Amino acid sequence: MRRSIVSGLCCTTVLLVGALSISARPPGSIPVVGEPADRELARLLVNLELRTRGALAKRYVAADAAHRAWLAHELLLPAAVADEVFHEVVPEATGGRAWVKMIVDEPRNRHNIGDDTTVALLGEIKSGKTQVSRTTAGAYYYGEPIKAASTCLACHGEPRGARDPFFPKYTKNGWKAGEIVGAVIARVAPHATGG
Ligand code: HEC
Repeated sequence: MRRSIVSGLCCTTVLLVGALSISARPPGSIPVVGEPADRELARLLVNLELRTRGALAKRYVAADAAHRAWLAHELLLPAAVADEVFHEVVPEATGGRAWVKMIVDEPRNRHNIGDDTTVALLGEIKSGKTQVSRTTAGAYYYGEPIKAASTCLACHGEPRGARDPFFPKYTKNGWKAGEIVGAVIARVAPHATGG
């Protein structure tokens, strides 16, 4: 159990870093916002973020009490791992050109605070779109809905406002299975842009 989770995480990270290095830009080329390779990269990042969090939530919920305690102790949880992998690995592996965030109305984690464009794209997702994108002067953005699965509800489900049993500093969100709760949005810029 432990080994399969850890090796799964290692595989995810190796794949992620590998995929991101393939997208490295040849030296000397003139970068433009929203080049095909950057669009591909944005789609890949959104997919990886959704699947990594989903896979970890599934394992967490399937584990027995002892393993759950171990997972929580080691912070092998959907949020904690995805946060580290995506908040740190993605910008580092792309030389500061890209990030991917889980955009919701009331973020628990400040790393998920977006910008004006992500707020606008979240609005489009809430109005029913399944894929959204935008090209601004500085970057290409791509996003897809986050759908709550039953495996998410232990921490994010009902009743809204009750204490999260695993992260008591947070409260539950009141999400229901199948509900669209936010948008995963990737931003890819031709140059390092930080934040
Ligand atoms: C074991 C508890 C737990 C489970 C299970 C869990 N989450 Fe979370 N989730 C958290 C915590 C804690 C945070 C905020 C802290 C962080 O990101 O480090 C978070 C953050 C988020 C965020 C980012 C928005 C914010 O508030 O910062 C989204 C979106 C999210 N989770 C979606 C999901 C989805 C979808 C699932 C199921 C596939 C899921 N979570 C399963 C605990 C959990």
